Amino acid sequence: MSTVLITGANRGLGLEFALQYAAEGWRVLGACRNPAAAEELGQLAKRAAGGLLTVALDVASAASVAHAAQQLREEPIDVLINCAGLMGAEHQRLGHLDYEDWARVLEVNTLGPLRVIEAFAAQLERGERKLIASLTSGMGSIADNNSGGWIAYRSSKAALNMVVKCAAISLAPRHIACIVINPGWVRTDMGGPHATLTPEQSVAAMRRVFSSIRPADTGRFFNYDGRTYPW
Ligand SMILES: NC(=O)c1ccc[n+]([C@@H]2O[C@H](COP(=O)([O-])OP(=O)(O)OC[C@H]3O[C@@H](n4cnc5c(N)ncnc54)[C@H](OP(=O)(O)O)[C@@H]3O)[C@@H](O)[C@H]2O)c1
Repeated sequence: MSTVLITGANRGLGLEFALQYAAEGWRVLGACRNPAAAEELGQLAKRAAGGLLTVALDVASAASVAHAAQQLREEPIDVLINCAGLMGAEHQRLGHLDYEDWARVLEVNTLGPLRVIEAFAAQLERGERKLIASLTSGMGSIADNNSGGWIAYRSSKAALNMVVKCAAISLAPRHIACIVINPGWVRTDMGGPHATLTPEQSVAAMRRVFSSIRPADTGRFFNYDGRTYPW
């Protein structure tokens, strides 16, 4: 049986990943800040054939990540999905920047995923699939930035892209592939009601990409539909 670890598994794309992998009989390790309040994840745990374990994990806290890794130390992990993320304050343009908010966004979107990668790499090594997928954004693409704004969010995802590229190089000798993927514009709390994709569509497409990843793909930036995204 394959095992997936998902951060931010209580809502949005993280919850949808949990639903879809559970439906396929995978063992799901659903990490979120407050498992006691994660009602849908709790309900899913009762019916997931492959088993679903919820674990408290705040990606912004080194102690929380270390504690979660300790709790899950016996679990080989096939796929790790760094899904947790946040947009930050509304007015992220020159003249309106909230630098404390920017630091929080970097903490969660950039430092957080690397913290999780470092803490769980040994367990990925014991899994069969050995894939780490981190959710970036088209807004993190420098090549694709024609409208500006959203400086905190964009910079956090551009930096995440670099962080994952570095991790891909460091983890290649251990045969662990690391990629970043843009989920598209998706109807979640973050994407809002006017987004073009449903979580079901985005996650189904990303899962197809994950299952096609070969070792040579490590370090790449994918779109949800499998196309290469420009850095
Ligand atoms: N939706 C889109 O259109 C879109 C587009 C491009 C990229 N993305 C990326 O896709 C990922 C998922 O987005 P989404 O649309 O599902 O967002 P969402 O609905 O706003 O959900 C965000 C998730 O991240 C979690 N989270 C936030 N801070 C955290 C922390 N410090 N530790 C652990 N978990 C934390 C939230 O948990 P709480 O409930 O505890 O806050 C929640 O589970 C993000 O990385 C986002 O940047 C989304």
